[in-house]
Amino acid sequence: MSSSSLLASNAKRLEGKVALITGGASGIGESTAKLFVQHGAKVVIADIQDDLGTSICEQLGGHEIISYVHCDVTVDSDVQNAVDLAVSKYGKLDIMFNNAGVGKLETSILDLSNEDFKRVMDINVYGGFLGAKHAARVMIPAKKGCILFTASTMSVLGGFADHSYVASKHAVVGLAKNLCVEMGQYGIRVNCISPNAVATPMLTRETGLAKEAAERLVSEAGNLKGAVLEAEDVAAAALYLASDESKYVSGVNLMVDGGFSITNPSLSMAVKSRMS
Ligand SMILES: NC(=O)c1ccc[n+]([C@@H]2O[C@H](COP(=O)([O-])OP(=O)(O)OC[C@H]3O[C@@H](n4cnc5c(N)ncnc54)[C@H](O)[C@@H]3O)[C@@H](O)[C@H]2O)c1
Repeated sequence: MSSSSLLASNAKRLEGKVALITGGASGIGESTAKLFVQHGAKVVIADIQDDLGTSICEQLGGHEIISYVHCDVTVDSDVQNAVDLAVSKYGKLDIMFNNAGVGKLETSILDLSNEDFKRVMDINVYGGFLGAKHAARVMIPAKKGCILFTASTMSVLGGFADHSYVASKHAVVGLAKNLCVEMGQYGIRVNCISPNAVATPMLTRETGLAKEAAERLVSEAGNLKGAVLEAEDVAAAALYLASDESKYVSGVNLMVDGGFSITNPSLSMAVKSRMS
């Protein structure tokens, strides 16, 4: 690595910025909170897992740098309160990362309960809408800001996850695109990050697999060999989209999937199995 690129990788890329991360107590949100703090940001973690959220803040240096707020993203007043806390405590809001989400593995439409469908849409889509709305309330007058969403490869593919999850992630990208158009006039960028499966508590809980086994499974099915997708890789994408390095990037759905979503190996597998 050259000395200038080493310098760049050591530089604090979010110095002076304030970020709010929903779902920041676990998995991708937790990794992002850690990386953002490392890069000089003040961070508010908004989640419903109070003990986890609080202990992450203690580990990362306490109230001067990072705070936890209980926030159910489906409750308007909770989201309003989280945004207001970021502003009152750290002076402003530069980065709103709508990351909280829930999902289930593939379920037949006949077995998917109406309540489960509504719950997933509520957290993944309505929660993201509330996050964007309250962030816009403080970002529009400031005429700057960055709104991010965690979508998924399921925002462009079908299968593997259930109907509610796939529908919700497609909807998140639609919401982000439309927001990008409206927010552009205020200098606010809006982007999505779409990871392939990552062995966070969400995935290990749903599959019943231990972290290593889940990673092995995802890597076997993956297109890019020799690397394992980790929460830190998604956090690195969030860091890029939140920093000024991406100052003219808006309306993008950044796939962090090693090319998984542009391949479909089924035909070549069928051909190979016939020939062997
Ligand atoms: N893990 C994967 O394979 C994967 C792949 C693509 C996208 N994603 C997306 O990444 C995001 C983060 O998931 P993760 O994998 O880190 O899972 P995770 O379960 O580790 O983290 C999700 C966090 O969201 C929080 N949360 C859930 N409901 C909430 C609510 N109503 N209000 C506030 N917080 C709530 C949880 O408490 C948890 O801390 C989700 O949007 C998920 O859909 C995950």
